[in-house]
Amino acid sequence: AGPGEYTSILVSQPAPGVSQITLNRPKALNALNSTLFHELNAALRTLSSDDSTGCVVLTGSDKAFAAGADIKEMKDKQFAEVYKGDFLAHWTELSGFRKPIVAAVSGYALGGGCELAMMCDIILAAPNAVFGQPEINLGVIPGAGGTQRLTHALGKSRAMEIVLTGKNFSAAEAAEWGLVSRVVQEGAVVDEAVKVAGKIAGKGMLAVQAAKEGVNAAYEMSLTNGLHFERRLFHQLFATNDQKIGMNAFANKEKAKWTNS
Ligand code: CAA
Repeated sequence: AGPGEYTSILVSQPAPGVSQITLNRPKALNALNSTLFHELNAALRTLSSDDSTGCVVLTGSDKAFAAGADIKEMKDKQFAEVYKGDFLAHWTELSGFRKPIVAAVSGYALGGGCELAMMCDIILAAPNAVFGQPEINLGVIPGAGGTQRLTHALGKSRAMEIVLTGKNFSAAEAAEWGLVSRVVQEGAVVDEAVKVAGKIAGKGMLAVQAAKEGVNAAYEMSLTNGLHFERRLFHQLFATNDQKIGMNAFANKEKAKWTNS
């Protein structure tokens, strides 16, 4: 499907350099079915080659960011089918997207919804945001990163308690535990996410992408390898025009005009 044909997401440009994807299955609390995820992947593929997009905001409705994978769609699936088709593998495409994604979470971010938020680079939460991994109540476990990313963010004991009991946690807890960067005033989470995304989109894109790669490497590598990788990324930026532009602008007390080259 192309942008004009999406049925389960909306794509807009709320500010210069910022594209917004809104999950749009309100009646199903944005349950993540295969149509929605294929549209989300298609939209991101388009945005990755769109030079006018520097940062993406991903959001849902006031009531639900996403209430999880679509249970009705998956309930009759058999082992052979999910194994052969590598069910949910297509969800990982989003985590390979190279421009930053800011998640604006209002309402339920449960199961796959919580996992989707955790695939993003920054999470801002509305006061009514509710996070959780309730898969244990369905006879399964998180299947799109919940046991891994939640554990990285919260530590073992909290992650275990949430995954094993299926209990939800609040926006305030998510902020206290470091899962989200902050809780934003009621009604303001999308605007605030667009503001943050706009700030990011105003930077030089080569440095932004390198910074994202560097921070993500902290989750994949030993400290020694991560520091080495970071230093090489840092060195590489000296091959860009933006490094000369940024540092000369500082020295001349001017504002840098990035060229993304
Ligand atoms: N899948 C499919 N449909 C869903 C859904 C989901 N995950 N979550 C909500 N819906 C549907 C409901 O079935 C209902 O549809 P109908 O109007 O046709 O009956 C509609 O959305 C509204 O939901 P409720 O009436 O349940 O709304 P509520 O306000 O009473 O409750 C809720 C909200 C607590 C979020 C409840 O909907 C709920 O518990 N949803 C399921 C949450 C869940 O278990 N998520 C994990 C899914 S598994 C997963 O994600 C696997 C993975 O790791 C990838």
